[in-house]
Amino acid sequence: MNISQIREQFPALQQTVYGKPLVYLDNGATAQKPKQVLDVLQSMHQNFNGNVHRAVHYLSMQSTEQYDNAREAVRRFINAKSTNEVVFTSGTTASLNLLAYSFGQTYVKPNDRIVITDTEHHSNIVPWQMLCQRTGAILEIWESDDSGALDPAKLERILDRPGPVPKLLSLPHISNVLGLVNPLKEIIEVAHHYGVPVAVDGAQGIVHKQVDVQELDVDFYVFSGHKLYGPTGTGILYGKEHFLEEMVPWQGGGDMIATVSLKKGTTYADLPLKFEAGTANFIGMAGLGAAVEFMEAQDAQALEAYEAGITQKALLALQNIDGCRVYGLPGTYYGQTYEKTPLFSFSTEGAHPTDIALLLDRMGIAVRSGQLCAEPLLERYGQSAVLRASFGIYNTEEELDYFITSLQKALSMLR
Ligand SMILES: Cc1ncc(COP(=O)(O)O)c(C=O)c1O
Repeated sequence: MNISQIREQFPALQQTVYGKPLVYLDNGATAQKPKQVLDVLQSMHQNFNGNVHRAVHYLSMQSTEQYDNAREAVRRFINAKSTNEVVFTSGTTASLNLLAYSFGQTYVKPNDRIVITDTEHHSNIVPWQMLCQRTGAILEIWESDDSGALDPAKLERILDRPGPVPKLLSLPHISNVLGLVNPLKEIIEVAHHYGVPVAVDGAQGIVHKQVDVQELDVDFYVFSGHKLYGPTGTGILYGKEHFLEEMVPWQGGGDMIATVSLKKGTTYADLPLKFEAGTANFIGMAGLGAAVEFMEAQDAQALEAYEAGITQKALLALQNIDGCRVYGLPGTYYGQTYEKTPLFSFSTEGAHPTDIALLLDRMGIAVRSGQLCAEPLLERYGQSAVLRASFGIYNTEEELDYFITSLQKALSMLR
């Protein structure tokens, strides 16, 4: 991996903060954008700002083409069968809310069960709680163990209970606290064996793993553009076509209709537009297309190997720090390998995460502190706040070394 060549493509990384070179380690929250993406956003605003799917004029035709190309780029990136299965949203949260609403309205009745894990981001908890409140369905929790791993036998006990099977299992590809890659294929096989469809929150997964939705046989897979080096306000809901065909739309308005009649009512547009009401974020989506092309241009295997090296080194260094506890360690659990990605949540005895984060900030290092939108999981570990350092495609080993020495310095100031 030629990291310096990659770094050069990210203007935001060239800046200093408080007189120090920026070391950006908050990629789990949002990632910086390569010039390729910024250029597309600029050129779309400047040259091709015509509303999509609406007019016959040049600007509209150009923006529609870019918009459609972006959908095809995403389809290719996740290997969906058809662009009908790629719904544009404003992010993972919007995708999960869309799913909970539309899937819920279509399939979920009182006393039906929806299963999630206790390792979720709030985005994969609250929409399901709201669905259960609306419909009288029951939210069941597949609990992880202390390592963060998920015991398939526990899932089978939930799925195998007398009565109807749950309507859906929804779980993260990679938890934004643990950084461990869940063995999706095996989990999906178990769920499908019982006839239960599976939705995956891929907000962190899509960034670090190559995703092939057909190979996984996943029913729904969602992610955000802004964590994948793309623009904010962009996201994807992938869904198998037969589900999307059956599901009712969630928002009404322009673009999602076939015909509207005050007397006869409304018929809906074909997929995927049925789920895309109103003026689309067509400029953002063109940017997402550029981000996907940026990712496709990388050597995925070399990138995974590079990230594995950073992960191993960072884990060792963090574990060597007195009183430091890292949440989510790689290993073999229940016969499955849980690989760790370069995202490290940890607590340190005798120093509050926010104080450390503030000191690191002054040293030019951006890390996250707090409950990471995963209150139930943190509570499980007896913590109300942790620190998180999450690495992106452009972070170097030198940055890792600087982060570790700066962390030690901050700790010695606070303890
Ligand atoms: C695992 C996971 N799910 C969902 C989300 C929500 O993503 P967004 O805020 O982009 O909608 C995040 C964001 O941090 C996440 O890490």
